[in-house]
Amino acid sequence: MRNKEELLKELYPLLENELYQEIKCDEIPFCVLPNGIDHIINSRDKRKIKNTECVICKFNKTCNGFFPEAKHLIEHVKDLPAEIILEVTDKCNQDCYYCFNKYEYKTTTRNVRKELSKKELFAIIDKIRDFGLKYIRFSGGEPLLRKDIFELMNHAKGLKIWLNTNGTLVNETNSNQIQKYVENVLIPLNGYDEESDFKITKVQDSFKKKLKAFDLLKKLKIRRAGIVLTKENVNNLAKFWQIQKQQDITFLEFYRPITLKPDVETLKKAIDDIYRLNIKNKTNFKIANALPFCLHRPEITSKISLGSIYDDGHNRLVVSSDGSVKPSYYFTKKIGNALSDSFYKIWNDEFMISLRNNEFLPEICIKCKYKIPCLGGSRALAHLKGNIKERDVLLI
Ligand SMILES: C[S@@+](CC[C@H](N)C(=O)[O-])C[C@H]1O[C@@H](n2cnc3c(N)ncnc32)[C@H](O)[C@@H]1O
Repeated sequence: MRNKEELLKELYPLLENELYQEIKCDEIPFCVLPNGIDHIINSRDKRKIKNTECVICKFNKTCNGFFPEAKHLIEHVKDLPAEIILEVTDKCNQDCYYCFNKYEYKTTTRNVRKELSKKELFAIIDKIRDFGLKYIRFSGGEPLLRKDIFELMNHAKGLKIWLNTNGTLVNETNSNQIQKYVENVLIPLNGYDEESDFKITKVQDSFKKKLKAFDLLKKLKIRRAGIVLTKENVNNLAKFWQIQKQQDITFLEFYRPITLKPDVETLKKAIDDIYRLNIKNKTNFKIANALPFCLHRPEITSKISLGSIYDDGHNRLVVSSDGSVKPSYYFTKKIGNALSDSFYKIWNDEFMISLRNNEFLPEICIKCKYKIPCLGGSRALAHLKGNIKERDVLLI
């Protein structure tokens, strides 16, 4: 067998073509293809074994081991989150009716919560670096509302910085600073033109400001646009592909609206249309948050959805604006505090381990062909509804 690097160099780009052709890798151990585990056929063949590398591997509970011939390829994958997201403020200059932050702030009151101080955030950033992570993301609320945002970024030296900003506050001056520190920016297109964007954000000229932000941040390697799949956006999906081309946006990513009042028919239409538009435009844009594949044409949904791999505590931790830590943006359950607890303790909290080991999957998902990466749709919404082991709220 060839060496691992050679194998990966060929495999990962190949997997990007899955829109046209289903690609499955027969019996590759999870540690050999850690970013493509959804493509692995993971049988329970009796000849498979595990070794001491497996015992400390992030995938020990999910991977069924390896054939003895592959022993030289086995190397444990560290059980760490891929990134930690810091919500540096709860304040926002937009007022989107659907914002998932409202699930959290309805228990307090948005905009009056005390934010963490610069010194406290410096301490948390140090902890993230010490925990051995490579990525930090600044989000909120609107992170550019903080006057010390670039001091925070400067303090995150050595970490790769991602930024979620609504884009309306990006200007000629701060765009240089952003380009100095940030590797990857995510700006939402709440609508597809001035009127539809304003209806959501209530900010005058918000659409124009966002397009200008994309323009001012041209030097960034990756500029992503995020689109929530509301009925109005879904009825106008092709327009987002036009904007992407005009502005030379690296890629679009879509979000199933996080809400306890889902619009199932709109999401089904979104799945069909995103697939069709990807084929038509030769793109590979995806729905980036949890979505149960059995909602609609799983063979298509699996090609345009990242599933829950980046959601529900599988790969990230989110530090809320008061320092409490949650498994994902919209999990209302708190797992300790970033100031008083170590990230090691939080990541290895019993609840987090159960999430990562899929112990909260509904029974029906356990033997499903799409278990990985679907992971039972949104566990956060099932939890919010009252039973974390219940099926995704879109299915009941
Ligand atoms: C909450 S905002 C915070 C960061 C920053 N202010 C921004 O606008 O990007 C982060 C992202 O969440 C998305 N979002 C907000 N509410 C959502 C919901 N209910 N479901 C899915 N995505 C949502 C927004 O479109 C935005 O791209």
